Amino acid sequence: MPFIEEVTDESATGEARELLDAERASVGYVASAVVIEQISDDALVASRQGLRDLIRDSVEDGASIGFVLPLDHEVLDAYLERVAAEVGRGERIVLLARDGAGVVGMVHLALVGWPNGQHRAEVQKLLVHTSARRQGLATQLMDEIEELARETGRTLLVLDTITASDADPFYRSRGYVEAGEIPDYAGMPDGVLAPTTVFYKQLV
Ligand SMILES: CC(C)(COP(=O)(O)OP(=O)(O)OC[C@H]1O[C@@H](n2cnc3c(N)ncnc32)[C@H](O)[C@@H]1OP(=O)(O)O)[C@@H](O)C(=O)NCCC(=O)NCCS
Repeated sequence: MPFIEEVTDESATGEARELLDAERASVGYVASAVVIEQISDDALVASRQGLRDLIRDSVEDGASIGFVLPLDHEVLDAYLERVAAEVGRGERIVLLARDGAGVVGMVHLALVGWPNGQHRAEVQKLLVHTSARRQGLATQLMDEIEELARETGRTLLVLDTITASDADPFYRSRGYVEAGEIPDYAGMPDGVLAPTTVFYKQLV
């Protein structure tokens, strides 16, 4: 299994993060070693600034991941608090990808709580920072979350994504099967409604 460990360390935050971002912008970003970690609720709170930056980057780049522009800080922080609470209760698994500068990717597995759905989970919030894309990071995150799903007995995964988005062919290439398309399901960051495709994958 790929390297995964639970961490509680602080990621670069606030001023330190701004300095690192400025450094990336000035010298050009070269990917350093990326470590993917399953994160605890406390570590998630400690990594809040990195998560805010990651989500902001994707939304400003046009990804439909639940938020609209302008990004409301309170809405974002309320979401991160809910995520930390669910991680603490064992209802959600979150993997973070970090390089030397901070958080560059994440993916969540929301574990279905119903007694008749213990074999099922939803993959959510697969995000890779724009500076780290097309280097195989989403592939690694999905490999690892699927491995964790198997280990926790979750053999049916579901997810949805904006129809014809960048993620659509990515999921198909990983064996996700289209269940159907729902028109006007979710808004893009500018608020315009777009169709969404629902996928599933049965893990073997
Ligand atoms: C979709 C996303 C997660 C892909 O992350 P990534 O780390 O760049 O993906 P990978 O490098 O692992 O790509 C694996 C393969 O997926 C496909 N792929 C990934 N991004 C693609 C793009 N923009 N256009 C076309 N194909 C793409 C390619 O086949 C790629 O292989 P290749 O680079 O050898 O051609 C990233 O673009 C992202 O975070 N987008 C915004 C958020 C989002 O839409 N998330 C999905 C929500 S459901």
